[in-house]
Parts: sequence; C-alpha cells; structure tokens
Amino acid sequence: MVIARLNHTKFVAVTSTCSHQQLQQITFQHGEFYCTAHGVRFDVTGKGLNEAGKPGLTTYRIEQTGTTLRVFS
Ligand code: FES
Repeated sequence: MVIARLNHTKFVAVTSTCSHQQLQQITFQHGEFYCTAHGVRFDVTGKGLNEAGKPGLTTYRIEQTGTTLRVFS
C-alpha cells in the first residue's frame, strides 16, 4: 500500500501493485502515483493517465481522527 499526503488534511491510499504487470513498484511523486517499472502514471483517484495504466489502481478509504489515520482495505 502507498499512502500519499496531498495537503495538511487530505491523504489518499492505493495499492502498491501496478495494474500493468502487477509489480509492486508504485510510488508517489509530483502529485501523482507512478510505477517505476515501465512508467505508468495514475492520478490521485487511481485512474490511469496513460494507455498501460487504463485498468487503474485499487484505492482504499481513509479516515483521519486527530493524528491517527485509519485505512480500510
Ligand atoms: S508494472 Fe508498472 S508500469 Fe509496468
């Protein structure tokens, strides 16, 4: 799982497994999720931004209470 902080109060969580060839190489950089294996990109909702990313990433619901994050998978 990859958890990214978008701003002071907003977090997003996605699977670390890429939908292209199922490698666990998803990272978060420059405001989007990125697979270091072959360069597939995904937006913060998990939607693929290039052809190989079309299946998208599985996302997880997050709840924040104070300084605690709870991720539901
Ligand atoms: S496995 Fe992620 S881009 Fe190919």
